[in-house]
Amino acid sequence: MASSPTRAPAATAREAVLSLRGITKSFGAVAALTGVDLDVSAGEVVAVVGDNGAGKSTLVKILSGVHAPDGGTITFESRQVSIASPAAAHQLGIATVFQDLALCENLNVIENLFLGQELRALRLDDVAMEVRSWELLRQLSAKIPTVRIPVASLSGGQRQTVAIARSLLGDPKVIVLDEPTAALGVAQTTEVLNLVERLREQGHGVIMISHNMADVKAVADRVAVLRLGRNNGFFDAATVSAEDLIAAITGAHDNVVARRATRTAPSTSSSTGKAAQP
Ligand SMILES: Nc1ncnc2c1ncn2[C@@H]1O[C@H](COP(=O)(O)OP(=O)(O)O)[C@@H](O)[C@H]1O
Ligand SMILES: [Mg+2]
Repeated sequence: MASSPTRAPAATAREAVLSLRGITKSFGAVAALTGVDLDVSAGEVVAVVGDNGAGKSTLVKILSGVHAPDGGTITFESRQVSIASPAAAHQLGIATVFQDLALCENLNVIENLFLGQELRALRLDDVAMEVRSWELLRQLSAKIPTVRIPVASLSGGQRQTVAIARSLLGDPKVIVLDEPTAALGVAQTTEVLNLVERLREQGHGVIMISHNMADVKAVADRVAVLRLGRNNGFFDAATVSAEDLIAAITGAHDNVVARRATRTAPSTSSSTGKAAQP
């Protein structure tokens, strides 16, 4: 086998900026997460993959302060922390771009970037906000022609760009992206994966939830597989095969999806994980 999963949530000697250990969360009788570990370091992209119901969204909500875990520890920059609210996540330096992006269609790019956190001298400082908007978009090498158009007229990739740029405003250490390419075509997916590269280059720790094995292989350093709310292996993204990932996701090597993935996607080329969804 080209690569084997490790039990260790961190593959590198670098100290993790964010560390989860033994995270547990139940909703009534449903155990959404059981004993989950996850590490991300500065300048590292960790993909979290798993089938529907694996616990990915629950994990995102714990990181963003929407849900409190029932058990386990969260360590951020060597301090044990609790993320009691979205404001607490923001203050710590953990930014989340949710799948629905939460943009206002009728507002322009600047207004969306600064919604709720407008720069004020005595009144809204239009010039400063426009300058800062261009700065943020340039940081991401974003392809947005003007910041004065309503978000409604932007492509899916450009919207994702605006949502990611907005998440950078609080200068976060860790950025959590929930399925950033799920709704995008090929060209726009490439655009968004380039943004993720920029985030890594700038030293952010990135946690990217994804269903798409090709995206994961293209941009992630490591892959954490969740299955039925538990860790099911950590992989080196450069060497793991799509087959092995799908096997870890589905919990079986010998099933139709895994066999088909092997046939259609040798480990060196891309393949889609979409088939892993029920
Ligand atoms: N608010 C909730 N109330 C009850 N059950 C939930 C809630 N959120 C998630 N779950 C359950 O927790 C499990 C994990 O769900 P989720 O985190 O959404 O998985 P994923 O995002 O990987 O598809 C599922 O069984 C789901 O039905
Ligand atoms: Mg989900």
